[in-house]
Amino acid sequence: MVSKVISAAYLTLWISSSVFTSAQDPYMTRALELMSKTPLIDGHNDLPWQLRLQFNNELNKVDLNTLETTHTNIPKIKAGRLGAQFWSAYVPCESQYKDAVRQTLEQIDVVHRMCEKYPETFMFATSSQDIMEAFNTNRTASLIGVEGGHSLDSSLATLRTMYHLGVRYLTLTHSCNTPWADNWLVDTGSEPSQHNGLSTFGKQLILEMNRLGMLIDLAHVTEAVMNQVLDMSQAPVIFSHSSAYSVCPHKRNVPDDVLLKVNQTGGIVMVNFYNDYVTCSKTAKISNVADHFDHIKKVAGAGIIGFGGDYDGVTRLPEGLEDVSKVPKVVAELLRRGWTDEEVNAALGNNLLRVLSQAEKVRDALKETRPDDVPIPYDEHSSGLRV
Ligand SMILES: *[C@@H]1O[C@H](CO)[C@@H](O)[C@H](O)[C@H]1NC(C)=O
Ligand SMILES: *[C@@H]1O[C@H](CO)[C@@H](O)[C@H](O)[C@H]1NC(C)=O
Ligand SMILES: [Zn+2]
Repeated sequence: MVSKVISAAYLTLWISSSVFTSAQDPYMTRALELMSKTPLIDGHNDLPWQLRLQFNNELNKVDLNTLETTHTNIPKIKAGRLGAQFWSAYVPCESQYKDAVRQTLEQIDVVHRMCEKYPETFMFATSSQDIMEAFNTNRTASLIGVEGGHSLDSSLATLRTMYHLGVRYLTLTHSCNTPWADNWLVDTGSEPSQHNGLSTFGKQLILEMNRLGMLIDLAHVTEAVMNQVLDMSQAPVIFSHSSAYSVCPHKRNVPDDVLLKVNQTGGIVMVNFYNDYVTCSKTAKISNVADHFDHIKKVAGAGIIGFGGDYDGVTRLPEGLEDVSKVPKVVAELLRRGWTDEEVNAALGNNLLRVLSQAEKVRDALKETRPDDVPIPYDEHSSGLRV
């Protein structure tokens, strides 16, 4: 319970700012109305990495109510109406073949501890149903995505164990090849392809993720991997933080033919706000971000779009989108551009909810299938180290 003095002060602030926004911008008023009924679900936020980088994961020494050295804190989350977040359990590629698994467990642990420390703000979540329960009780549903297959050390047992710890997506690679999948840098020509996409073990892993109900994230992989997974996965896939290649030709972005396949398979592309992926330059504006939303809608429909801001994982964000409190401005911009309420609600959260519940259905349909216990061939496991 907040003291009367403080809540009166907040109330005055709230009234004056909401009068200001509605007088200034009816689209913002409409955006906030829609966001009060449909959760904004964001695909990728690196706050856990900042907790490691800045505080060695010593959460007891951090106050998320006042933290100012990150894009994300509790007041910003509330102002940004963040309904659900996939928190990224990311560890650098340098940990591959070393202590990647331990470091990833530490990142998973810090998300669990964050939810326990601030139960009024966060609800740990592992399902589409959890997301709605958190939203209906005014908390941010907190899911975990592991960013990079190197975090598994090529072990299906590690994949399964991470699922049990609550992990609900795996980005197949970060910016390094794993012994079973190629990363996007291969498409830039700066690294050689090792697998022409996925190896046989990589394909086993896709089916095991389908069986578990873990979402397959294709941000960071090569186009060959995107296409192979789209062709074989039984569940729809996600791009947790990627934008449109036709708007900004960066190899981290998604080309139009892949957007069409995402439409055909019912998946989602969650738009990244990083300037370098938005405009292919160091600067960007909100309108440039909205251009990605418009383009994806034009090519493949509003049914495959989502938000994947990449806050706290990037160094440059568009003017006006400097932290997570600003996301409603994108929603207002889409309304200004003629997006219908239904299209906006789809992009906010309904698309991701559809994808996650479909993955849950595939899991349920496969419950008689046995876990895959065939390991990666011994001589492939350390192929990244072979010279
Ligand atoms: C959530 O917040 C809304 C708006 O402030 C309020 O009407 C509702 O009662 C709250 N719900 C819960 C379960 O706290
Ligand atoms: C894919 O596009 C068609 C129209 O071309 C549309 O009817 C369908 O709903 C779209 N699927 C998704 C998942 O958005
Ligand atoms: Zn990333």
